[in-house]
Amino acid sequence: ALADVEMTIRADEPGDTISKYLYGQFAEHLGRGLYEGIWVGEDSDIPNTGGFRNDVIEALKPLKIPVIRWPGGCFADEYHWRDGIGPREDRPVRINTHWGWVEEDNSIGTHEFMQLVEMLDSEAYIAGNIGSAPPVDMAQWLQYMTADDNSTLAKERRANGREEPWKVAFWGVGNETWGCGGNMTPAYYTDLYRRYATFLKAPSGYMPKLVASGGQNDATDWTEALSGGTTDAGMFFKIDGISHHYYTLPTGDWGKKGQATGFPEAEWISTLDRTLMVDGHLNLQEEVLERNDPDGQVGIYLDEWGTWYDPTPGSTQGFLEQQNSIRDALVAALNFNVFHEHTERLHMANIAQTVNVLQAVLLTDGPKMIKTPTYHAFELYIPFQDATYLPLELDGVPDYEVGDVSVPHVSATAALTTDGKLAIGLVNLHASDAIDIDIDLEGFSADAAEARVLTGASIDAHNTFDSPETVKPTGLDVNLDGDSLEVSLPPRSVSVILLDP
Ligand code: AHR
Repeated sequence: ALADVEMTIRADEPGDTISKYLYGQFAEHLGRGLYEGIWVGEDSDIPNTGGFRNDVIEALKPLKIPVIRWPGGCFADEYHWRDGIGPREDRPVRINTHWGWVEEDNSIGTHEFMQLVEMLDSEAYIAGNIGSAPPVDMAQWLQYMTADDNSTLAKERRANGREEPWKVAFWGVGNETWGCGGNMTPAYYTDLYRRYATFLKAPSGYMPKLVASGGQNDATDWTEALSGGTTDAGMFFKIDGISHHYYTLPTGDWGKKGQATGFPEAEWISTLDRTLMVDGHLNLQEEVLERNDPDGQVGIYLDEWGTWYDPTPGSTQGFLEQQNSIRDALVAALNFNVFHEHTERLHMANIAQTVNVLQAVLLTDGPKMIKTPTYHAFELYIPFQDATYLPLELDGVPDYEVGDVSVPHVSATAALTTDGKLAIGLVNLHASDAIDIDIDLEGFSADAAEARVLTGASIDAHNTFDSPETVKPTGLDVNLDGDSLEVSLPPRSVSVILLDP
């Protein structure tokens, strides 16, 4: 038997706030993500409110989604906002050239997206088109959304059904400009960012935070150029965040990424190992920003993250559909635990993508809908939104090894919630072994514990439309004695313990 792991939580040394925006979503015009997945149109037989699926909206509401990024992704740099306003029957039909070469009828446009944001009590993160539209388009889109005067743009918005200006919390200036967003160099994009950002203006109190399009994985040249390290002009007037992307591929090979289900234990552990690399990727960006922006003005926005597998056999090419298993729930929780360590610079994270695309929280099939294990990981971690980070020490954590890959057996995080509870998030990464943990609380004494665990019968346990509740949280026994507790974590599990003072 393994020796117990000892953990000490320092409630007497509270740290920064864990921003709720680390629990953001990304929803692109891609495959069945928005169309079918969220939007079916008012004439659909699928029960809907103004075109939005009731089942999906009701499932998303409890997640307390703080922010949704839209309309892309790669789609953002071929999207022209005027295509998506006015009577739906008059909107042009375009081709979504990036994702499947399918018809895009523009029935989801600005008004529909903002309706979604309001239905979910969320906030908007619009990604503007820098790749294939001039600065005036981006500038006028922002004015159309935020103007409260007698300008023609404000009148046009009112005529299209929206009296009040919208608050747009975040605005992205392009996406992946090193690739689908225009195949630019960091220096070229940095200049272009300045140009486009110069003309982004809104009435007082309505200016969104501006996010520049950055790099991916361990690359730092985009962060470096954007934060001024390699330009003469240095830091300039308005840049709130630099976006960064990191996707987890089981094999690390884009040609053969690995399957969503039916994978060997070697790909279980390689996926967990590769997802933990996000920590190093964030550290690299932070080192650059510490140098170029020591005052901490510029945040990192990890506005695309998650697993990317070989697509579901038989699914449409370019739709990025994949099943979602207990492995994905562990990926999500491991990312959350890492994100909490980076609260100072990491201002936002958005999982790709909400419904039916990549690491989705919901999957739909006609009128049916299921919650994925990733959904349950997000739901379990809600108490961490805007909670206060607590440092912790972990002793005696054994390694879990398969072949030449090794990860820690356990990952943990702790925080004081906004309603005064102590929250502990725990991941047991081992495919087959349980592990016991003794937890000591410094500066907190607990009266009661409420604990839930998410696990599955196998490393690829997942929900299906015929069996939608195969993987869902259940209660977890905790042995509590004031300022100490003992808990046994089942193999391949995510647990959250909430302690009442
Ligand atoms: O999320 C899918 C795609 O991945 C996005 O459109 C793009 O930004 C990234 O390459």
